[in-house]
Amino acid sequence: MKVGVFDSGIGGLTVVKSLLKHQLFEEIIYFGDTARVPYGSKDKNTIIRYAIEAVEFFKNFELDMIIVACNTVSAYALTEMQEAATCPVIGVVEAGVLATQNALQDKNANILILGTNATIHSQAYEHGLKALDFHNLQAKATPLFVPLVEEAIFDGAILQATLQHYFENLSKPNAVILGCTHFPLLEDVLGRYFGKETQLIHSGDAIVEYLEKEFTFKKKQTNTSIKYFASENPDALRLTAKRWLNV
Ligand code: DGL
Repeated sequence: MKVGVFDSGIGGLTVVKSLLKHQLFEEIIYFGDTARVPYGSKDKNTIIRYAIEAVEFFKNFELDMIIVACNTVSAYALTEMQEAATCPVIGVVEAGVLATQNALQDKNANILILGTNATIHSQAYEHGLKALDFHNLQAKATPLFVPLVEEAIFDGAILQATLQHYFENLSKPNAVILGCTHFPLLEDVLGRYFGKETQLIHSGDAIVEYLEKEFTFKKKQTNTSIKYFASENPDALRLTAKRWLNV
């Protein structure tokens, strides 16, 4: 199977990492809209317009599926992308909601949703979780994590101060939804901050769980080919991919 993976920038590489780990696809076409990142501060109409342009871009490749490896786009533009595309389009929000359900037995569990301003404003996770009877929800927009990750700042004083700034007044959660594909890059520091008892829900692992349930993958792909495209400076994206994924 040949899949297109779309994100506003480099965050979707965390989803690619999970896809590679589980050896699901023969070919991956990655597109990061690096010229226009961040999407998380944009409004709904702009996000939809950019998302439809991404579908048009993918039409050059005869794909079997498109994975929207961006929570912001999944929250606002999934239906529009599905209407514009000729193959299935899968988003990370629904997958993340189902992964959270699978990870938690207790409907009273305290769930902290993190995301961009747009994702948190959409309340997409809250709607999904409430429909599954989870009601003890906190949501926090943490947009500063995006440029920190883009700058490859994964620890240190600036990040610690940012964690403090965002989280000091929150009650301790049982699970944290990393509702932005940039955030798994901060998994170590977030894990240390919240402690071992708090589960972190990762969009990449969630999408793998979802795909394995909904689709049939005949055999493990051990030699996946990946092509990287970006709307600006594709070499920088390729370099980051090489550093993070070794491919
Ligand atoms: N990676 C995007 C997401 O999952 C966020 C980055 C952005 O603001 O564009 O929401």
